[in-house]
Amino acid sequence: MAKKSVMQIKPYVPGKPAAVVQRELGLKDVIKLASNENPLGPSKAAVKAMAKALNTLNIYPESGAFELRKALAKRLRVKPETLFFGNGSNELLQIIAEAFVSPGDEVMFSAVSFVVYSIAANIAGGTIIQIPQDNFSHNIDGFISRLSPKTKLIFICNPNNPTGTIISKAEFEKLMQAVPKNVIVVLDEAYFEYVDAKDFPDGIKYLSKYPNLIVLRTFSKIYGLAGVRAGYGIADADIVSIIERIRPPFNINSLAQAGALAALGDKAHLSATLKTNKEGRAYLYAELKKLGIKFVPTQANFIFVMFDKNARIYFEELQKKGVIIRTVFDNFGRITIGTMKENKRLIKALNDIK
Ligand SMILES: Cc1ncc(COP(=O)(O)O)c(C=O)c1O
Repeated sequence: MAKKSVMQIKPYVPGKPAAVVQRELGLKDVIKLASNENPLGPSKAAVKAMAKALNTLNIYPESGAFELRKALAKRLRVKPETLFFGNGSNELLQIIAEAFVSPGDEVMFSAVSFVVYSIAANIAGGTIIQIPQDNFSHNIDGFISRLSPKTKLIFICNPNNPTGTIISKAEFEKLMQAVPKNVIVVLDEAYFEYVDAKDFPDGIKYLSKYPNLIVLRTFSKIYGLAGVRAGYGIADADIVSIIERIRPPFNINSLAQAGALAALGDKAHLSATLKTNKEGRAYLYAELKKLGIKFVPTQANFIFVMFDKNARIYFEELQKKGVIIRTVFDNFGRITIGTMKENKRLIKALNDIK
């Protein structure tokens, strides 16, 4: 009954919620280090703004997100008409694929990357071209070698989920130089705020040079607003006008707009989150080394780990101890960096299992 391309889709499996593990295993205190959420919670200013917005929920949201657009344009030093908003950046990945990919067009992305790219490509009926990785990173020469007249859309995840690696400015420029102007490149920067590497390419700086580039970002990660769903993109105004044709009306709701606007102004919450992540990363690197668990150095708020056995075994054992992580495949897992208390609990649980 459904389209063939839809039947090829494996439904997205989110990180297991703490409430489910609590119910299933009868545990009281469960921590989730599985979905790269902000362990400090949302900004207090955002909570206050959303509480205020509750009183006007009888009114449809402002579809163009006027205030948020204005504030974000000022912050990013871009024109307001180069911004577009989504019910999370997830929705935007899907909208972009629907807008640009026709059945048979090729959609390229890294073999170990964000799973929604393949869902979005399949919804649009695109042919998926997965590029094998080079040392857990995007292999840019591999992307370039697979460009064909059928290539329509390229997803680059920077930093990459789940491996935490980045592509450098030189690699990004090499790719953009090689890609024909009629091919859309989506640079997914969901975790860019966490990056401290000097040679990280800030996508926004390349927009004027490459009108086929779309940069995607989100309020779900460092801003701690995953629950209200607020994502945004920045692109040439012509691209934005195409996206606006199919963007569902009111897709960024009133609470999300109010929360995102307030979170944007809460610099203290942002720096506290970065500090927590940096300290947690250093602690986890040291402890994982002691435990003999290999990992890939990360530029994000999660660590890609290689266990000595199938990650599923570790997932099950940790879950019994009230710690939820994410399996990726085989022996590979992904662990979100939590608060120091959560990180210590994870390490204790891993020590107990070993
Ligand atoms: C790389 C990447 N892109 C996009 C998203 C989607 O985020 P959201 O829809 O919450 O904005 C995620 C979420 O995990 C992600 O890891």
